Amino acid sequence: MANRTKARGPQTEKNGAKRRRSSPEPRLAPLGEEIQHFGSLRLLPVALSADARLESCQILNAILADTMIIYALYKKHHWLVAGPTFYQLHLLFDKHAEEQLELVDVLAERVQSLGGIAVGDPRHAAELTTIDRPPDGAEDVPAMIHRLLDAHETVLEKVRRGIDKTEKNGDWGSNDVLMSDVLRRHELQVWFVAEHVVDIPLVEA
Ligand SMILES: [Fe+2]
Repeated sequence: MANRTKARGPQTEKNGAKRRRSSPEPRLAPLGEEIQHFGSLRLLPVALSADARLESCQILNAILADTMIIYALYKKHHWLVAGPTFYQLHLLFDKHAEEQLELVDVLAERVQSLGGIAVGDPRHAAELTTIDRPPDGAEDVPAMIHRLLDAHETVLEKVRRGIDKTEKNGDWGSNDVLMSDVLRRHELQVWFVAEHVVDIPLVEA
């Protein structure tokens, strides 16, 4: 009888070490205890100074936040676009959104590989971004395109500054991500979007 009411403590192994008793219950960790703070670096042996890695993480996170926002902006416009060009813009905006989503992953994983903490929550991204917030309702199509082009240019300015900085710091991995993946993708998307507000007749009269 005494054995049934006795609290179960850790088992003792033959060598004297305590072993945690197995349990079928989920073990829920306390929430909110950070093991690494945003903006801090952990040591990863990539032969790059902490100062260079820290500066790259700041640059990449600013662009990452903007990229999460521009992804959402493309999705919003994919849903809300209207009028005679609906179908082609509906498809184009979705394609660009998918490509921006790929960049989100590339940028975030670059931050992590430098030992930093990538922006991960859209509410955090909203605090960091410098892209103008659109109205919650629908704008007309030329305004949507204007807004997208502005957003691209906001990102491109940061990307070009980032390319300069990462070159000076010798962070060639980040430099390559910014040039090969981010810069060229944005430039291409700007071209495809801007062509929709060029006033050219379909047939020469
Ligand atoms: Fe869709």
